[in-house]
Amino acid sequence: MKRLTIIVIALCAWMGATAQTQNNDWENPAVLGINKLPYHATLQLPSKEKECKEIVSLDGEWQFRWSRNPEERIVEFYREDYDVSNWGKIDVPGNWQTQGYGTPIYININYPFVKDRPRVTTEPPKDWTAYENRNPVGQYVTFVDVTKEMLSKNLILHFGGVHSAMYLWINGQKVGYSQNSMSPAEFDVTSFLREGRNKIAVEVYRWSDGSYLEDQDMWRLSGIFRSVQLWVRPLVHICDYQVTATPNADYSEFTVDAKISICNTGKKKAKDLLVELQMATPELYGVSVNPNHWNVTNHRIPKLSAGDTITVDLSFHYASRPRLWSAEKPWLYPFTLELCGMKDSKNNEKFEYHFGVKKVEVVGEVFKINGKNVKLRGVNRHDHHPKTGRYVDDATYEQDIRLMKQANINFLRTSHYPDREYLYELCDKWGIYVMDEANHETHGYGYANRVMGEDLTFQKAHVDRAESLVKRDFNHPSIILWSLGNEGGVGPNIEAMYNKVRELDSTRPPFYDSDRRYSVIWDDSYLYPDDLRREAQKVSDKPFMMREYAHAMGNSCGNLKEYWDVIYADSSICGAAIWDWVDQGLQRDGYFAYGGDFGDKPNDGPFCINGLIAPDRKPHPHYYEVQYVYQPLQFERKDNGRIDTINRDYFTDPSEYEMTYDTLRYNGEVLLNVAAHLKEDKPWAKKGFVVAREQFVLTPYAFPVNHGDRHSVIQSQSSLLTEKPVPMIHTDGNKLTSWIVDGKEMLQAPLEPYFWKPENDNQNAAGFARRVATWKEVKDVKVTYTVINDRSIRVDVDYQPTATDRPVMPKFGMRMRLPKDFTQIKYYGRGPWENYPDRKGSAFLGIYEMPLSEYETEYIHPQDNGNRCDIRWFEISSTGNSGQPSASGKSGSTLRIDGNDPLCIRAWDYGEEDLEGAKHPNEIHRGRFVNLNIDLNIHGVGGADTWGKRTLPQYTIDGNQPHHYSFLLSF
Ligand code: GAL
Ligand code: MG
Repeated sequence: MKRLTIIVIALCAWMGATAQTQNNDWENPAVLGINKLPYHATLQLPSKEKECKEIVSLDGEWQFRWSRNPEERIVEFYREDYDVSNWGKIDVPGNWQTQGYGTPIYININYPFVKDRPRVTTEPPKDWTAYENRNPVGQYVTFVDVTKEMLSKNLILHFGGVHSAMYLWINGQKVGYSQNSMSPAEFDVTSFLREGRNKIAVEVYRWSDGSYLEDQDMWRLSGIFRSVQLWVRPLVHICDYQVTATPNADYSEFTVDAKISICNTGKKKAKDLLVELQMATPELYGVSVNPNHWNVTNHRIPKLSAGDTITVDLSFHYASRPRLWSAEKPWLYPFTLELCGMKDSKNNEKFEYHFGVKKVEVVGEVFKINGKNVKLRGVNRHDHHPKTGRYVDDATYEQDIRLMKQANINFLRTSHYPDREYLYELCDKWGIYVMDEANHETHGYGYANRVMGEDLTFQKAHVDRAESLVKRDFNHPSIILWSLGNEGGVGPNIEAMYNKVRELDSTRPPFYDSDRRYSVIWDDSYLYPDDLRREAQKVSDKPFMMREYAHAMGNSCGNLKEYWDVIYADSSICGAAIWDWVDQGLQRDGYFAYGGDFGDKPNDGPFCINGLIAPDRKPHPHYYEVQYVYQPLQFERKDNGRIDTINRDYFTDPSEYEMTYDTLRYNGEVLLNVAAHLKEDKPWAKKGFVVAREQFVLTPYAFPVNHGDRHSVIQSQSSLLTEKPVPMIHTDGNKLTSWIVDGKEMLQAPLEPYFWKPENDNQNAAGFARRVATWKEVKDVKVTYTVINDRSIRVDVDYQPTATDRPVMPKFGMRMRLPKDFTQIKYYGRGPWENYPDRKGSAFLGIYEMPLSEYETEYIHPQDNGNRCDIRWFEISSTGNSGQPSASGKSGSTLRIDGNDPLCIRAWDYGEEDLEGAKHPNEIHRGRFVNLNIDLNIHGVGGADTWGKRTLPQYTIDGNQPHHYSFLLSF
């Protein structure tokens, strides 16, 4: 969100000027770390860490003590004689707020503490969480046993991620300090450890000056949230390496370049070392083209003095065509990197990794991967788990990447910081293009602010975040762009980050949203489709992308197809990434919590619930629309009946899929369903999985026009047409007030014209309720009930506006309430999942059956839901498959609705008023009746943003035009 920039800048420039130098390391931007080892590449593939004999995991239960502020911490807890045995426990990795200590805070743009950089403890308003808990401190203790043999090696303590700043002591001695919470911190602890039991003490501060660069829109959680490892390394070891594999101009050959740094941490010079790189033949999804063949190249180091580091270049030329890495065909070349002594050829150390051969280029205004104008069908993702917060386990990573691949997503932005290493390995292996983002956002100073972009006291901190990003993740072939951060500053600090990225990697360019001078791609976000088309045309010197679009908050993601029509039509638009992947809800008893639910203040309420999937990874209905719009094949039916295939991929031929054509006939309508299936198992889906599909109507449904032939009835009441009085049916004006069937009243509330619908989040943000409030009352409508017999009534609804200045209608239709036991649904229309006029491409016509509970969609932040479009007929029964006896009789009843026009129907076991009042689904008062909305049309969900943009006009209902529809009700 981009607002309020100017005032905020002016104010903060002044505050910055008055800030004084602090004594605390954690309020001093000149101190980013003390005794921290340089950043380096992930040495061993994360999935193979267990096979790496150098790693001792320190994960598990640690002793823990939480204090509200630094003053209340136990200063000398790190001393060997300080007894922590009566302390609480905490799981490492994990956040302390998700384990019962302190308060999680969800806030978007503003800082949760008083902005007074570099200080973080200035007094806030009394009702802020940070007033009482000014800067909480978590003190951690664990013990590790060290053997004599280990002591002869180089010992490195590795912290994968600690939020936000930490001190480390071992056996009472201070080792060092670190901030930059989303990147590893490493310390050489060789001289601090001793044989036997050792005390490791870590003190973590919730806020630090580093927090000024970590103002991402997310739950603000703290602690040691990624793994802790003790690396037991040979004195002479590989401290870093970078492998690049580049194809030549015509992709007929390629070269592998490895830069390997070896350091001697011992006290003696090392002699006769051999660095060897062994490269396997390429493999796809773990299957090698020739498992027994290896290429080997090596380099001899005659000597390496004590304390020295040497960088060795190994390169290898392949005079053959590479198997290129792409998200479609993620070909990988596994390799091992060994450092051994020449004489005894004893392995000193050996790491396993992989490289991919690919080329990323910006050619004029076109972004290319392997020479192709690839489109990035993207999503943004926060590292979030409903139970463990910022720590996401391997299985959830796999589930996320699997669900992304199944949704035809090929591009992931790791908003807004580097994730855990394993995620990138999965992207390498299963095929996802990655924009890896630096842990940098200063949104609290305004979007594209100059305050932080120009404050040179923070320059080192900015660069540190770029450097840690590129250095750790360099060897992942999935990475195609380095992002300098999100919603940060403008100015020299950004330039310095940009230069650092350029210096570290020439093969993948930098991207940045807030200062376009330092981005190879022009970003603009959350545009309407038409504006995207126009803006992209204006930019002629760079590719264009929307790093964020289609704000998927609540019931949303309308007009997705319109976006992609624009993107596919313009070669300069390289793609767009949905905001965002997973709802950031935290699990509480019976519901997912969002901002404010923990009493956190200030907070931004449910604004963190924007995912395509729920926190527990259950896909929302709009997930399926993404899957459909992002599909790699699209189908077109020509006049002569031929089906044409448009291939939206670049490295995959349509013949690689198994095609099926199914003709379906329902009530005279003939449908053709076309689908492309996987021909074999992939790691992310089984053989047969449908990657692309389309539905064509060959013979359209003949909507009945003559239900209740008007000639056969006579008018008896103002709006009730009937041949003879039917005692079981009563009307009152426009309302059908009573209908007794088999001796039972079926109307718990009348059938009545009703034009209101509750808002969804997008509409709420766009002032919908205020703009269209007039529709809470119906007007200018006449309903005619034609009684066919005592079990069937035709309903005609006619709207003739008497004014010309009416806003759009929320919906045009009727509602009624049935007895509560009408809980089984069967219908012929679009489904099976919820769909709305602007989000129905993925929901094919068919006959679907489900209980009412599945017809509804339970949004974490309750809102309008559950619509199905283009309904031909709909049945709701009081006896479901459960065989439960119904209230209306032994066999139950069925209400059938036959549309004379395609209908939109919503069904809930609660009313509009119940939905509108609830903050969480478990608060909705359910089960008193079944509320049925039977409409001709409903306002679309909207698809641009959740801060003011509206549903596209073609998906709204004109309040100044006449509308008419009719349907038949029968029991
Ligand atoms: C964007 C921002 C995201 C998120 C989103 C709203 O502008 O980059 O981090 O805040 O708005 O959900
Ligand atoms: Mg932001």
